[in-house]
Amino acid sequence: MSLLNILKYPDPFLKRPAEAVGEDEDVTGLVEDMFETMYNARGIGLAAPQVGVGKRLIVLDVSPVDETAKPLALVNPEIVSREGKEESEEGCLSVPELNVKITRASRVTVSGHTPGGERVQVAAEGILAIALQHEIDHLNGVLIVDYLSRLKREFYRKKIKKMYAQRM
Ligand code: NI
Repeated sequence: MSLLNILKYPDPFLKRPAEAVGEDEDVTGLVEDMFETMYNARGIGLAAPQVGVGKRLIVLDVSPVDETAKPLALVNPEIVSREGKEESEEGCLSVPELNVKITRASRVTVSGHTPGGERVQVAAEGILAIALQHEIDHLNGVLIVDYLSRLKREFYRKKIKKMYAQRM
């Protein structure tokens, strides 16, 4: 297993829609590395594009927020139904020092495959529903900054540029 580099906004790769994982593609090694990378960064979810892999693959473990939750890896996940509305504050490992209030569906059903190729359907609510929608956004090149107003996004972009410049 190895730690992967997490791409940070405004890396243009994060804006690229990801491609479906092929039926005979083995992603088990990548899934292990993504879990390790996510736990190491103390995140509750990670999408493959965040580690520079343009594939429709996500890993989640929301147990720091909901202790009944189990780790979950989904290949080619798709939201097949949404219900209700809920606003919450979200952060993102690729978008440092920013929390954004986002309104999402409060319950979702997501279909996809396990890394082993089994078809699964996940009915989720609460933090898992939010995290699933957040990670699937990543597969479509959508980040939490995209939910900000243009003005606030511009402000954040300048702030982050200044922050990176100071680190160099
Ligand atoms: Ni994220």
